[in-house]
Amino acid sequence: MDIFRTASEIRSWSRSRKTAGRTVGFVPTMGALHEGHASLLVRASQVSDDVAISIYVNPTQFGPNEDFSKYPRTWESDLETAAKAGVKAVFAPGEEFYPKGYRTEVVVPQWNSVLEGEIRPGHFDGVTSVVTKLFHCVEPDFAVFGQKDAQQALLIRRMVRDLDFGLRLVVAPTVRESDGLAMSSRNRYLSESDRKRALVLSRALWASVAVWESGERDPGRILSAGESELAAQAPDSVDYFTLLDPDTLAVLDRGPALSKPAILVVAARYGTTRLIDNAVLGDVWG
Ligand code: PAJ
Repeated sequence: MDIFRTASEIRSWSRSRKTAGRTVGFVPTMGALHEGHASLLVRASQVSDDVAISIYVNPTQFGPNEDFSKYPRTWESDLETAAKAGVKAVFAPGEEFYPKGYRTEVVVPQWNSVLEGEIRPGHFDGVTSVVTKLFHCVEPDFAVFGQKDAQQALLIRRMVRDLDFGLRLVVAPTVRESDGLAMSSRNRYLSESDRKRALVLSRALWASVAVWESGERDPGRILSAGESELAAQAPDSVDYFTLLDPDTLAVLDRGPALSKPAILVVAARYGTTRLIDNAVLGDVWG
């Protein structure tokens, strides 16, 4: 497994793979790798010949009061996880990734200020910009993202289509702990009791999914099943529990009956820790 620190190194690696007739799969991450990330690496190796991962805690997607400086950094174990998954190249740029005087941004207007974007202003602009840079460095044939960050995956999909990135986007399912909690690098911030309380998030999603599976299509009725679950063991606060149209990013909570796939999304806080989760109603990623 090769470790590269600069754009030109990873780009020549990728180009040499392609000259050898091989396809390149790419999984962008911020490190602190867990089984969710590992599943993306496995997915990438199923669809491509050689897999590259990036490990870079991107400062531009963190707000001024967010956890950039305390975001977990677990370099040695990340390398082990990557090596075990058969990764061929690790791209881990340093601070020079944003050169002095950096100004340019790639944004997805409007979609960047819905739900997560409303609560974390500027977050998605940081994400779409850094992912653009990473795509230009790695030049992958396939890029794999997790459904865990569904809104992020939708913005990247829009950007890839709009700006002709010429790569295939693959969205892989959310990996959960055995009790249902979606794996996240931020779960380690939860106290033991909050960790247990947080199980209500997946329970609320499943309650609403069950109603949808029974044939109900009224957004209000689908949501109210999950809302009752949430109320039974309320998080410290709920930022949103709602339905999202994956094609328009419209919030569907009071709209007409669902006539196509939608995503149930939830965000809640336990102390200073903010968790997000979601479930798809139908084939969203198809
Ligand atoms: P990070 O939070 O490290 O996530 C990297 C990838 O892993 C994302 O595509 C995310 O959706 C996926 N992932 C996280 N938890 C998962 C889980 N439990 N199951 C499956 N996939 C999971 O997302 C980012 O980094 C950054 O925004 C990034 C795209 C790297 C840009 O900086």
